[in-house]
Amino acid sequence: MEFVNKKSPLLKEMIGKPVGELPTPVIVADYNDIVSNLSKLDEYFNNGNCKIRPHFKSHKCVTLARLQMTYKNTIGITCAKVSEAEQLVGGGVNDILIANQVIGVDKVRRVALINEKATVRVAVDSIEGIKQLGNAAHEIGVEIGALVEVDIGMNRGGVQPGKPAVDLAEVISATKGLRFDGLQSYEGHIVTFPDYKERKKLVEKDMLPLLETRALLEQKGFSVFVSSGGTGTYDITGNIDGIDELQCGSYALMDSAYKKIRPEFLNARYILATVISKRNDVIATDVGLKGMGAEYGTPVVIGYPDAETLYVAEEHTVIKNIDVNIGDKIRIIPPHGCTTNNFYSRMWITRDDKIEELWPIEGRGCLE
Ligand SMILES: Cc1ncc(COP(=O)(O)O)c(C=O)c1O
Repeated sequence: MEFVNKKSPLLKEMIGKPVGELPTPVIVADYNDIVSNLSKLDEYFNNGNCKIRPHFKSHKCVTLARLQMTYKNTIGITCAKVSEAEQLVGGGVNDILIANQVIGVDKVRRVALINEKATVRVAVDSIEGIKQLGNAAHEIGVEIGALVEVDIGMNRGGVQPGKPAVDLAEVISATKGLRFDGLQSYEGHIVTFPDYKERKKLVEKDMLPLLETRALLEQKGFSVFVSSGGTGTYDITGNIDGIDELQCGSYALMDSAYKKIRPEFLNARYILATVISKRNDVIATDVGLKGMGAEYGTPVVIGYPDAETLYVAEEHTVIKNIDVNIGDKIRIIPPHGCTTNNFYSRMWITRDDKIEELWPIEGRGCLE
């Protein structure tokens, strides 16, 4: 892996130093652990037809996306926002799916513009969305691949399976500048269902209408590929005949919530934090909600299995049952990795606790 920002004085100063010398709070990720996660998922698909299109939202780091793209079964990158897609295209990723609706004259125009340099497909779930995208494609003179988003129970975006989805596919293929490429859906309502057997049953049931929609479209002569899935369902959705690619995101770096249901992947990322206050056996660290996604579950402190997080405040995490002193640095696994990376503009990469690289998080704050 090539070093990035080689000339940065910050990097030069820190390179080769022990991770504990970093000023906190910072995100740190272990290179070997990342590689272990990427290899594990990729190798799982060595003998199957399903491919991987990792979700950028989980790390927002172009260097990591490029590393993911070097794996044999990884065929492109998923993202949620146009500005994320722009960062990816700028960083050399040439096959992207925005697994989300893109609405707004400025935004669809930007999608059309990046399609001059790369394949950037978009999910749609409305006639209005199709119209906007088609107009932009026509104006810029490109063809944009569109996927109909199908709601299979998450109640977020998407049209109902069956006729409503087929109707939209027909509108897309009749729209100048657009190409109907397939279906997008996400089983987000069950992707982290705690019991594996139950998760499998639920996913297999909820995927049926999506597969029936695929069959209806194929009967009408459409060529269709289907994109779906996440880290919690890679070995369920990824084994369903009729699913072509998976949008797993969290597997790359993981977090404390996902680790409970996916122990086979390593918590490659942690937040290095400093103990800044102590009263009896209760300490406060210098990272809180402004530096850690804590929507799901509780933070885990590496090396202190009895530590108990009392609460996460704006600038502090308050922890009890932990034998540390003011000034000590501790490693906290965030409960939600995807929102955590959105707080930081860079991620320190270590091997054997020695600092090796500094990867920018270009997608930080890419909300539009
Ligand atoms: C559209 C979409 N696809 C896939 C994912 C999968 O992510 P993960 O692997 O983190 O479950 C998400 C997560 O929110 C998503 O919104």
